[in-house]
Amino acid sequence: DHPADRPADHPAACPAGAPELFTWEFATDPYPAYAWLREHSPVHRTALPSGVEAWLVTRYADARQALADTRLSKNPAHHAEPAHAKGKTGIPGERKAELMTHLLNIDPPDHTRLRRLVSKAFTPRRVAEFAPRVQELTDRLIDRFIAEGKADLIHDFAFPLPIYAICDLLGVPREDQDDFRDWAGMMIRHGGGPRGGVARSVKKMRGYLAELIHRKRENPGDDLISGLIRASDHGEHLTENEAAAMAFILLFAGFETTVNLIGNGVYALLRNPAQRERLQHSLDAGEGDLLETGIEELLRYDGPVELATWRFATEPLTLGGQDIAAGDPVLVVLAAADRDPERFEDPDTLDLARRDNQHLGYGHGIHYCLGAPLARLEGQTALATLLRRLPDLRLAVESTDLRWRGGLIMRGLRTLPVEFAPR
Ligand code: HEM
Repeated sequence: DHPADRPADHPAACPAGAPELFTWEFATDPYPAYAWLREHSPVHRTALPSGVEAWLVTRYADARQALADTRLSKNPAHHAEPAHAKGKTGIPGERKAELMTHLLNIDPPDHTRLRRLVSKAFTPRRVAEFAPRVQELTDRLIDRFIAEGKADLIHDFAFPLPIYAICDLLGVPREDQDDFRDWAGMMIRHGGGPRGGVARSVKKMRGYLAELIHRKRENPGDDLISGLIRASDHGEHLTENEAAAMAFILLFAGFETTVNLIGNGVYALLRNPAQRERLQHSLDAGEGDLLETGIEELLRYDGPVELATWRFATEPLTLGGQDIAAGDPVLVVLAAADRDPERFEDPDTLDLARRDNQHLGYGHGIHYCLGAPLARLEGQTALATLLRRLPDLRLAVESTDLRWRGGLIMRGLRTLPVEFAPR
């Protein structure tokens, strides 16, 4: 049923004038709809494309509060949807796969224990030491297309870079990394729940990771998987299953996000020539400051995670003046919060030098992105190297011809065809 057909006292009744969400136009540019919601219905109940009803939180202050609210659980067992509907919603973790008991589906105290263990292995120092490898990967990918004078920056660059980077970091041998690329490709192409080919890819990845963890236990190296196995906290270790789920969430959370950080980021720069020129000059002058603030601004302006992952009310609560019932799903719309004029001056303007930029692109609270240092490293290396090696980079199609993926959580381009003088 269309929202407009519902009786006015139905909790899902739409305020008059509410924009239609999840359409093709919305996928292309959701920001006008989010501006409307922020103003007229900041905690907004809507039916998602899967049919599940959820609350969308669009104001910065409410979003930040919701992300840190302990009454909002990450565990899908708290979802009130009738049992027969479960498993059909595409909510990650509804299927009892071992890989699904990961950080983004659990609450304290389990979350605290697992996060503490992984933080001992996945340290900022490990990421910093990885910088030369990310640079080498970035250059190798550009080498492959630079003589052509054209490329699809998603397929040829943004997509392979993070998957090879995470594989390297985890300790997946080079000869197996193309299998990972193919499995990940299946997941990103089909998005959402593990159906058909996606389910097969997840299964293959699970089998592979279990075996790899077993091998690393026998024969440890200085990679992240060996680090995860070694990590201990008050004598506690990760079980093999927990280590596999952890490796899986690192791949899953760190892959499509970074693809879109690079894709959305390059696209925003191509559409804002003055900003891009300023960045190019500062890089030519050997300065890193604008690159650092610039990556944060690109995340705020058009970040990869449109909606934070699911949360479920464990008890009745009020958010932004709206009553939410126990069991209701709540989705925090990071993309809307990060354009809130109450928090950001001139929110629809890209300003790479923006200060006081506490965006929510990496989330907030205990689930704050664990991979933020790696994402920053990859984003900065990718953008700086592209601008340095392809200074005349330009879009090869009209921006109206570009297509955005219609996923719920992520925002990113399907393709990004570009041109430049062959070198
Ligand atoms: C969590 C964004 C890259 C690993 C999150 C969350 C956001 C986010 C918004 C919180 C979700 C929530 O609260 O529902 C991003 C963005 C990235 C990025 C925008 C790239 C630009 C990465 C990378 C990795 C990673 C490269 C790892 C290799 C994780 C993990 C969590 C997480 C493990 C769960 C943390 C927890 O629940 O304690 N990320 N992420 N992310 N991210 Fe990232």
